[in-house]
Amino acid sequence: MAQSDAPPSRPQPLYHPHIRVIREADDVARVTTLLHRAYGAQVARGMKPLAGRQDVDVTRWRCASGVCLLAFEGLPDFAPPADPERLAGTILLQEKEPNEMPGLFGEPDVAHFSQFAVDPEFQGHGVGEALLRAAEGFAIGRGFKRLALSMAEPDVDLRRYYERRGYWLHGTWQWPYTNYRSLLLCKMLT
Ligand SMILES: CC(C)(COP(=O)(O)OP(=O)(O)OC[C@H]1O[C@@H](n2cnc3c(N)ncnc32)[C@H](O)[C@@H]1OP(=O)(O)O)[C@@H](O)C(=O)NCCC(=O)NCCS
Repeated sequence: MAQSDAPPSRPQPLYHPHIRVIREADDVARVTTLLHRAYGAQVARGMKPLAGRQDVDVTRWRCASGVCLLAFEGLPDFAPPADPERLAGTILLQEKEPNEMPGLFGEPDVAHFSQFAVDPEFQGHGVGEALLRAAEGFAIGRGFKRLALSMAEPDVDLRRYYERRGYWLHGTWQWPYTNYRSLLLCKMLT
């Protein structure tokens, strides 16, 4: 049989991050830097997500208003990590906004998340997937039936990312601090 010239497909290393709730001693500046780096691609496209430009005090305030999870570099399939304490990603559950929130987020069976980010250095290795699973587990564990989020409407690839994971369009929303309309997505938890 003739051999293909194409190189054999090799999966990207899959990281198994260690995920835990943020602690008093954690450096919020690191979280802020990670957010700026992760949302940098949207900023470069002219969008103004809050997480892409907020200062350390805003990060601290936001994290304290809900349940903030941090993901640290875990063991990849193939090579040991250089530093097991490197911050790889974060997600914030049940943030309490000073601004008006979408009605969806206040429905009794709905949990919501925000400030979801993976450092570009770690993207595409399953860290986001692990954080989403942790968020869904958090919501199920507290009796919620649905999990919701808002995202920048112009980010078409991000919408597909969520749709592949069972999140579907519920409506739209305009936050006062962004220069784009947001989509509200929601998933039934089982
Ligand atoms: C959205 C975001 C958090 C996802 O994080 P991530 O760690 O890159 O996500 P994952 O690695 O779980 O999945 C990303 C893609 O990487 C690829 N991937 C994941 N694990 C992989 C593996 N083991 N092998 C090969 N490819 C893999 C997949 O293509 C996957 O997309 P698909 O499964 O939908 O096709 C991240 O891209 C990010 O920080 N974006 C900027 C901030 C942002 O927009 N946040 C959301 C605001 S609502």
